[in-house]
Amino acid sequence: MPHQPIKPRHDHATLKFPQGFLWGAATSAFQVEGNNQNSDWWEWEQNQPSHLRSGLAANQYQLFQEDFRLAQKLGHNAHRLSLEWSRIEPEEGRFDPQAIAHYLKVLQYLKSLKIKVMLTLHHFSNPLWLTKKGGWVSLRSSSYFARFVERVVPEFKDHIDLWITINEPGVYAYCAYSLGKFPPQRKNELRRLLALWNLCQAHKAAYRIIHRLDPQAQVGLSQNVTSYTTFHKHNLPEFIVQWIYDLFSNHLVYFLTGKTHDFLGLNYYFNQYISLNSRTILPQPVDITASKKEVSDMGWEIYPEGIFEVLTDLADYHLPIYITENGLASVNDDRRVRFLLSYLKEVYHAIQSGVKVKGYFHWSLIDNYEWTAGFKSRFGLIQVDFKTQRRTIRPSAQVYQQIIKSNGIPHYLLKLLGHGSQVKEVLANPHDL
Ligand code: FCB
Repeated sequence: MPHQPIKPRHDHATLKFPQGFLWGAATSAFQVEGNNQNSDWWEWEQNQPSHLRSGLAANQYQLFQEDFRLAQKLGHNAHRLSLEWSRIEPEEGRFDPQAIAHYLKVLQYLKSLKIKVMLTLHHFSNPLWLTKKGGWVSLRSSSYFARFVERVVPEFKDHIDLWITINEPGVYAYCAYSLGKFPPQRKNELRRLLALWNLCQAHKAAYRIIHRLDPQAQVGLSQNVTSYTTFHKHNLPEFIVQWIYDLFSNHLVYFLTGKTHDFLGLNYYFNQYISLNSRTILPQPVDITASKKEVSDMGWEIYPEGIFEVLTDLADYHLPIYITENGLASVNDDRRVRFLLSYLKEVYHAIQSGVKVKGYFHWSLIDNYEWTAGFKSRFGLIQVDFKTQRRTIRPSAQVYQQIIKSNGIPHYLLKLLGHGSQVKEVLANPHDL
């Protein structure tokens, strides 16, 4: 057969995303609102050094209109936020009408800006009364949560496009009961499993309640999925251990929650190498700092291919996928620009491979309180000066704005993947290829 000339594929076209793709950013109530005094996290932080106290956070409880106006100005067509359960039910069984009215105002405001709403019902923090009753280890925890869900869904359902029941059940159970970093800091593997089990029961109960009260609702949970990689290319023990980690930390939650997902919510931050070394019998997760890999300000590896890997893996569930969180802690916004472009490029390739990705919510819209790391980790597309609460749009937000406007990645933006280009210049000369 005569040689067919290879057609060049570098046509400088925009990397187009599917029509109707949701573009937005995510936050959680405790991390941005401020003054969540009835929460267990608030009680915990009172005994922490001052830089770990959330205090007024980004004062979004008061400033939500300003933040959402900025999101709209930046072109976002969707936003993910959460309810603070401890505001709505500050004491067991007592629901605060003022808190409910507040959230209604928030949701109505987002809708008035034509922004689609993804609402999370539980994002790490708990009412203090729940923790006093044993928290997520208590066998009644899922029924307490179900009572809360039963109460709030009728109030808010007309304004919600997508529901997330629980944020990262596996991470919560691990950090609270295995690492002992999150309150209630009770290190015990049995408790960890119990908490995970109860969170999954809570998800299933919430899924059913929301569907009963709003049959058309779209409901899922946000799961932190780690990409696992063997450190050595051909190493069978590493491959087996990697497979076990993947199964337990990524897929167990789906096994425990069965068919109660209308879509999958993916939070992607972590790549983890598994390595056999001379000091241990079994392969272990390896500390990548020695390899001098590029990491965020939190020490998390920057590994864009990982989001492609987990997306193609999750595609086996045959459900639509929303990326409910993905972002970078960095005080250097040029790095955020490269991060955004390189991860979104991988999302584009996953979509081209047939994965049904329906939306992307960057973590985060604004700088916020990062749990056990305080305010030093800057995740925001919008910078917050925590002394004055002044908001400033970062260049990365403007790059994201151009992506949203094109519903894809225009070729000229790829210049910003390099280290020599300035966002300002590139945005000013879109035709200068
Ligand atoms: C995720 C959490 C979110 C935020 C990011 C950085 O695990 O869901 O609240 O802290 O990490």
